[in-house]
Amino acid sequence: MGRYIIDGGRAFHGDIRVQGAKNAVLALFAGAILTSEEVVIHDCPDLLDVYNMGKLLQSLGVSFERRGTTVIIKSDELSSDEISCCLARELRSSIFLLGSVLGRDKRAKVSYPGGCDIGLRPIDIHLKALSELGVNIREKYGYIYCDATRMRGGAVTLDYPSVGATENIMLLTAISNGVTTISNAAREPEIVDLQNFLNAMGARITGGGSSFIRIEGVDKLHGVEYTVMPDRIVAGTFLTAAAACGGELKLTNVVPEHFSALTAKLIKSGCKITEEGNSIIISSSGRLTSAERIETQPYPGFPTDLQAPYTVLASIQDGMTIITENIFETRFKHIPELIRMGAQITVRDRNAIVKGVEALRGAEVAALDLRGGAALVIAGLAAQGTTIVNGSKHIERGYDGLEKLLTSVGASIEKI
Ligand code: EPZ
Repeated sequence: MGRYIIDGGRAFHGDIRVQGAKNAVLALFAGAILTSEEVVIHDCPDLLDVYNMGKLLQSLGVSFERRGTTVIIKSDELSSDEISCCLARELRSSIFLLGSVLGRDKRAKVSYPGGCDIGLRPIDIHLKALSELGVNIREKYGYIYCDATRMRGGAVTLDYPSVGATENIMLLTAISNGVTTISNAAREPEIVDLQNFLNAMGARITGGGSSFIRIEGVDKLHGVEYTVMPDRIVAGTFLTAAAACGGELKLTNVVPEHFSALTAKLIKSGCKITEEGNSIIISSSGRLTSAERIETQPYPGFPTDLQAPYTVLASIQDGMTIITENIFETRFKHIPELIRMGAQITVRDRNAIVKGVEALRGAEVAALDLRGGAALVIAGLAAQGTTIVNGSKHIERGYDGLEKLLTSVGASIEKI
């Protein structure tokens, strides 16, 4: 397992271009198999999750070719409707394939998906919605067998605005007869990107980004050339790192409104932020005051994926911050590691109570999940002394070329 060696205490100076969005591109890959024509997707980040999704598509008989950051997908016909279990365990987003394989072939077999070690991550909302749309679902030996031959459009209301469940329903019903509506749909920008992508393939979907989405089924979809949206979580991670380390950082290829919940807190903490079209500039003294409360919420609230990075910033701000993780059950695994670096944090149920300290101290720590691992890298960048972050594989699932980009703006970080 790789590791990062970081010499902390250096301010940021320079520009970073943000990668395409992992959580959007994974859903677009699933959508690409809804047509037998060629689909070209630009700005795909080179990540383990993206690689694994490509392997999953290939296991269905889909041709998947990467040329730099462009991926070409072509699925004349699916040679299998079984979504391979070992890869599915690796990849939470394998569950999106359920919707698109059913949309394409009307039959699918998938094992319960895996994903980050951040909680149970059940798929009950997905399965309830699919069965309400007439999909016959049987569960046996850890597999889910679905038959959508008698699927019909309908009105679905989600008990919780699940991102994956919203995407699955869009993928299932884009090709169908009848109209399907989703109430209490997730409003994340990745949903809008999927809607734009599918509509560019000939789908008729409206309401993406709102809580009410309407899908008018069509007979078939055609090929498309499309560029995925920028990764708002990677952008937010870099902004948080710059706030913690001090200096000035310009991010290009961003949509600032996608992370306004974060920038509002950074400005409240004393950072200076300037937005210019699809760029954003942050400058920070590195010594900030607490923003007091952080509550993770579905979009457009504070994103759960930035909770761990922000906890690091809060740990070196003047004052007390209460951080509440409302979305996933166990997304505080980075906290014991931060405490080893001198952070003063106590956890009560879903709340992390963070008392700011003067500085963190370098230490050897372990990344246990994707965003918690990114948080430990930020901690090492801001700490005094040297930090070793073990488990770089977790971090490489979501951050393309992290050490190169950080080095280009003045950080001392090396991967071994
Ligand atoms: C997507 O996960 C993202 N992953 C996650 O990013 C992100 O944290 C999450 O949305 C919330 O924004 C991808 O897009 C690949 P949910 P998803 O369905 O679709 C519970 C990262 O770091 N739930 O909105 O799985 C679930 O357990 C990853 O890039 C059910 O109970 O998120 C969780 O507690 C991590 N039953 C909450 O809802 C269900 O059927 C949010 O899940 C579905 C979800």
